[in-house]
Amino acid sequence: METFSTEKSKKMYERALKSIPGGASSASRTPLEGYKPYPIFIEKAEGSKLYDIDGNEYIDFLVALGPTLVGNANPRVINFVSEQIKKGATYGLPYELQIEVAEKLIQDVPCFEKVSFMNSGTEVVQIAMRLARAYTKKDIILKFEGAYHGWMDSVAHTVHPSLGVDAKEKIKEKMPIGTGIPENAYIDTMVIQWNDVRGIEEVIERLGDKIAGILVDPCMCNSGIILPDEGYLKKIRELTAKNNIVLIFDEVITGFRLSLQSAQGKFGVTPDLTTLAKAVGGGFPVAVYGGKTEIMDLLADGTVFRAGTVNANRAAMGAAYATLEILEEDNGKVYDDIYRKGEKLMRGMEEIFKRNRIQAILTGFGIMFQIHFTQLARIRNYSDFCQSKEDIFMDFRNRMLTRGIFIRPSHFGELYMSAAHTDEDIDKTLEAMDDVIKEMKKENVF
Ligand SMILES: Cc1ncc(COP(=O)(O)O)c(C=O)c1O
Repeated sequence: METFSTEKSKKMYERALKSIPGGASSASRTPLEGYKPYPIFIEKAEGSKLYDIDGNEYIDFLVALGPTLVGNANPRVINFVSEQIKKGATYGLPYELQIEVAEKLIQDVPCFEKVSFMNSGTEVVQIAMRLARAYTKKDIILKFEGAYHGWMDSVAHTVHPSLGVDAKEKIKEKMPIGTGIPENAYIDTMVIQWNDVRGIEEVIERLGDKIAGILVDPCMCNSGIILPDEGYLKKIRELTAKNNIVLIFDEVITGFRLSLQSAQGKFGVTPDLTTLAKAVGGGFPVAVYGGKTEIMDLLADGTVFRAGTVNANRAAMGAAYATLEILEEDNGKVYDDIYRKGEKLMRGMEEIFKRNRIQAILTGFGIMFQIHFTQLARIRNYSDFCQSKEDIFMDFRNRMLTRGIFIRPSHFGELYMSAAHTDEDIDKTLEAMDDVIKEMKKENVF
């Protein structure tokens, strides 16, 4: 067996550090978020595989942090984008393809009556909050402890606060994600606990006449996937409708990932506004926001301002169009196949844990899930999540890497499936895991 080496990545990282702070353009690609001592540098990605500059091949469960649901470098997406951009990458003027993409989105996603485009999830969350505030003429936005909605100042707090030694201790204060964020910027964003019906009722009883909107990631994807309790989203829908509060589903991750109708279709709850990005763009920078006409039309008469020089550019719209065409085929048949393989992987992993008497659970669905090394049988909120053993997860993840399986080095994230994963990929991953868990057991890691 050849020895696993990432020496070329190490050298490239040292070079990168001289011109780019941290060596990459997002914290999630650096040692700050698990890539210790340095990230691997990628040569190319194709189908279900990633190839690094040292010549290592990996089965890819990072899936670019969610976007390449249709597979890395999907030829239909790449070819369509290539054709489109020959007509000019961007004009600063409207054109037909963006209407075609909008029409597809409106057909697929229950909440969409009208939609508009930007380039990143962060941006569309910002405009959705602005719309909610303008529509209700109120200021407060509620978010959930442990939820991430992008890096902008107003929501970049209480995302992954450290809970100290007692993970059950309730978070009392808002904690910004870093320095440089003035308190004033997030004064109107309040934090509540996920899956706590009484908590949300209480805050609405107390402050309902000041609450403009609630930001809901329907699967709380950035704390290892914390699914909503049965009926929880319906309850939020009821409470928001009754109290003139705009329900915003932040489906930046779940949009077009959980189903062709997104999480709202899967859970049967239709919000007033939805933001989505990642999967809809097939790897290109596409972000969508949309919802009820009466809210979205505040943009039309200028009541609410929005802009963006390269919004809805041809590469983005070409990527979204081709991606949606793939996902829509036979009424979303591709999802059945991805779920089947993902569930096979999940069941196989659970079986390995059981056989080896390891305390671990999986949360999520076949199409995206996370592994938690925890004694809990269920994870219902961020405090529960904090009981997962991050050091064991990272050890497991790093050992999988040397066997050619790429999992994001963060227990806050998840494993993503794509349409390109094969049954053989699943079998190989389970074989590697069997080996890793045996090795870890032998070394008394658990
Ligand atoms: C739920 C959610 N909202 C918003 C964002 C921000 O998206 P972007 O990274 O495209 O700005 C993310 C990013 O991971 C996300 O997971």
